[in-house]
Amino acid sequence: MRPETALIHRYRNSREQHGAVNPPIVHASTILFPTLAELDSAHQARSSYGLHGTVTHFGLIDNLSEMEGAFGGHLVPSGLAAITISLMTFLKAGDHLLVPDNCYQPTRRFADNVLAGLDISTTYYVPSASAEEIAELLRSETSVILLESPGSDTFEMQDIPAIALMVNQRGIKTIMDNTWAAGYFFKPLEHGVDISIQAVTKYVAGHSDCLLGFIAARTEEDWKRVDNTHYAFGTGHCSAEIAYLAARGLRSMPARLRVHQSNALTMAEWLESRPEVLAVHFPALPSHSGYQLWKRDYTGATSLFAFEIPKRNRSKLALMLDRLKYYGMGYSWGGYESLLIPKRPQITRSHAGWPNNHQLLRIHVGLEHIDDLIDDLDAGLKRYLS
Ligand SMILES: Cc1ncc(COP(=O)(O)O)c(C=O)c1O
Repeated sequence: MRPETALIHRYRNSREQHGAVNPPIVHASTILFPTLAELDSAHQARSSYGLHGTVTHFGLIDNLSEMEGAFGGHLVPSGLAAITISLMTFLKAGDHLLVPDNCYQPTRRFADNVLAGLDISTTYYVPSASAEEIAELLRSETSVILLESPGSDTFEMQDIPAIALMVNQRGIKTIMDNTWAAGYFFKPLEHGVDISIQAVTKYVAGHSDCLLGFIAARTEEDWKRVDNTHYAFGTGHCSAEIAYLAARGLRSMPARLRVHQSNALTMAEWLESRPEVLAVHFPALPSHSGYQLWKRDYTGATSLFAFEIPKRNRSKLALMLDRLKYYGMGYSWGGYESLLIPKRPQITRSHAGWPNNHQLLRIHVGLEHIDDLIDDLDAGLKRYLS
């Protein structure tokens, strides 16, 4: 069975669902055990309390786990929770953590504000650092390295297999934020990564109406360790409605991603051809510094990337963005609709490299007709530069 078919046909059984195509939404806090013997062995049941989920969650968990090639996974209430719960699982007081400088910004806030207070120190490494360069940053107390490729806002690629091989030999855990690839175009666990997380909020849910995260573990041992932290924090999975929506989104995700990818490529090539565009940061473009890594390891590209134009004042930026017809401004992505927002990597990064006289814009290319998107952006760029 090919991946598109598998995501559609696994984990539903219309015979058990009164003929309905989709599995039901099952709510529960209390789970009943009909006999004392079954109550006594409740710890062996997949769920003995609503916090452990219901069949609505299990179908989604199992489908996502198979997609990622995981031993198993855990749903958590947001993509950010997937990152923080994974980090809390594998770090303890006195440990050292490595994080790419272009990580999702709230990951940095968690490391600087929460982990630092627990005596866990963080070093931010240059996003394009090679395995050898990262090896030089390792300390005896380094226990986790976080990976994110391409990284947030500036989209540098990492050599994931080489980094994973280098740190695995030293017993260091690798956790990758795999949201950009939607767990679909890249399989970190097949490349030696221990934990792959993604914000299901984005392409899996796909309709800008859910918040949800997923933690996929390569081994049973790591799955159990995450399980332990997950239940200790009491966050549970998510509501049954959210799990239902995400499970539904997953069925059509490969089809949506095909259009996202093709629209994004056309848009990136169009932007690259514009004289006013100074750079396009999309790993699927041959001109991108990480193109060879993307081509080697990824089976496709999603539709979030960035581009640079000359800096103008804020009112020119407003003139461009406020009047766009088809692009929204908002802090998420992965939905069916297009988005465009200004970004300032300079304000959070530890390492230099982002010229202040350029305006960086992050674009999420949606499922609209690409000609409408290009026409709208073309008119916006003309307003900006007028
Ligand atoms: C790369 C990346 N990882 C994780 C997250 C967090 O996802 P959520 O919004 O579900 O917490 C985001 C959200 O924008 C993201 O861009």
